[in-house]
Amino acid sequence: MTSFVEYDAPDFDRREPQAVRGLVHNPLTLAPANALDAEEMVDFFRAFEEVAFCDWQDTTRLRRILLRDTTLAYVARNRYGTLVGAIIGGLLGTRGTINHLAVSEPYRQRGIGETLVERLIRDMKRQGVRRLFLFVDDDNATGQSFWDSQGFNEARGETTYEKDL
Ligand SMILES: CC(C)(COP(=O)(O)OP(=O)(O)OC[C@H]1O[C@@H](n2cnc3c(N)ncnc32)[C@H](O)[C@@H]1OP(=O)(O)O)[C@@H](O)C(=O)NCCC(=O)NCCS
Repeated sequence: MTSFVEYDAPDFDRREPQAVRGLVHNPLTLAPANALDAEEMVDFFRAFEEVAFCDWQDTTRLRRILLRDTTLAYVARNRYGTLVGAIIGGLLGTRGTINHLAVSEPYRQRGIGETLVERLIRDMKRQGVRRLFLFVDDDNATGQSFWDSQGFNEARGETTYEKDL
């Protein structure tokens, strides 16, 4: 059974009094993503131009990925069950990667992105991961500020090589 963790407003909003008031009546739920979330997650991630969600990544593929024990993913939902944030990452031995992260615009800058990352990092540490890596577009200034704020550093002296299969 999937374990759900309920978060009240204070966990999600430490900053804006107005947003806190809004969230008191609109608590968010954070839960590990499972295969049933795949379809919604595909639509969700595709809606963000900053998220490099490949065309070939469809519901069936994502469902299979979510079922693997090397995949870690969380979804944040509002009180109506609408997806407002999601993160997905994977384990590669002692390294881990964060593939995709997004938060719906009206819900941004309330600590949801940070909370999703904290959850994933907590799980990765438990699985023995010692270093995380991820890719951010050069023109995604918000994404870069966000990862800076989470203690990530730009890799120096390394070039990323890639090949489509
Ligand atoms: C990046 C993103 C996930 C951040 O989500 P969020 O819930 O708004 O982030 P948080 O509220 O947890 O912010 C944590 C910190 O990130 C930084 N940050 C977040 N948004 C920022 C912005 N617009 N400008 C500058 N810094 C920002 C701040 O340092 C912030 O801490 P602070 O609020 O105490 O200043 C969200 O903007 C998003 O979905 N962007 C589009 C998709 C994307 O770019 N994903 C990342 C691709 S790698």
